[in-house]
Amino acid sequence: MSQPTKTVLSCIQPTGYMHFGNYFGAIKNWVSLQESYDCVYGVVDYHAMTMPFDIKKLRNNSWELIYNLMAVGVKPENLFVQSLIPEHTELSWIFNCFCSYGHLSRMTQFKDKGKDVKEKGAESFISAGLFDYPVLQAADILIYKADFVPVGKDQDQHLELSRAIAQRFNHVVGKEYFKMPETLHTETPKIKSTADPSKKMSKSAGEKHYINIFEEEARLRKQVKSAVTDVGREEGKMSDGVANLFELLKACEKMEAHDSLVDSFNQGTLKYVDLKEATADALVELSQAFIEKRNEITADKRAVKYQIKQSSAEIRKKAQETLREVKELIGLMNVK
Ligand code: TRP
Repeated sequence: MSQPTKTVLSCIQPTGYMHFGNYFGAIKNWVSLQESYDCVYGVVDYHAMTMPFDIKKLRNNSWELIYNLMAVGVKPENLFVQSLIPEHTELSWIFNCFCSYGHLSRMTQFKDKGKDVKEKGAESFISAGLFDYPVLQAADILIYKADFVPVGKDQDQHLELSRAIAQRFNHVVGKEYFKMPETLHTETPKIKSTADPSKKMSKSAGEKHYINIFEEEARLRKQVKSAVTDVGREEGKMSDGVANLFELLKACEKMEAHDSLVDSFNQGTLKYVDLKEATADALVELSQAFIEKRNEITADKRAVKYQIKQSSAEIRKKAQETLREVKELIGLMNVK
């Protein structure tokens, strides 16, 4: 008999935009994993509440992210919205009571994000939700009994905590109920800001530091043209900015152009304008296809809403089953 297909789960917070750093670093991989695994991908709006957020934008950001994910090839039937599946938050309460306070206190992301909140000024405050966020993440993962969780290295500590919660739960109930989810570290390109290649591409650093995957052609070309190329160059060594353009070209799978430009670099004949042009061409080709797909999708937003509510309801069935079993195992009431 053939082995059952393994489950992959990952989630993303709704921020309403997507840049080439997110796409090449994570989402492109989500798309290809769909070919070999049962994939469950969440838009985690409850997680987005852990940092100061705008109640007027939250729901819209979730929809925008869904359009974006669908436009790049995430299948709608694999997508759910966290707040449409209340079992996540219910399980996270239960997990709070299986999570060691000491362990949760050691999460470095809480310390980093807490510092960010503080620096934003007196209006903001550090919520208990921010502290507790990794427990909700554990619920996201374990509720679907995920085998693999594709995330960046910054999430390793959270995955470790999820396993600790699963272990503690299994120990208390005296049964290997939850399987241990594994982090799936796929080699993905780490794209840098073209304006400052010492930083990673990110929205928080400001407009110059990211390229939207749906950017219109003229602005995209301008951003690539003004990429910093020669800062930090040592004799005979490739500068970070040039390496980043090569990385982008490779990420776009333009290997022929990439290899021939690398040859020129090695021979000392590379003109940066040529490298920039090839990179811009490759990115424009991708973004044009994304824009077209996104336009198709957003032409009927009602259909998308219906589709996502359906898929969330379908995915919810699995979450309900797990929660029912969990409650049974630990002595809580189940309505039947
Ligand atoms: N913590 C993740 C991030 O900030 C988002 C996330 C929430 C997540 N729940 C998850 C990732 C479950 C993987 C699995 O990027």
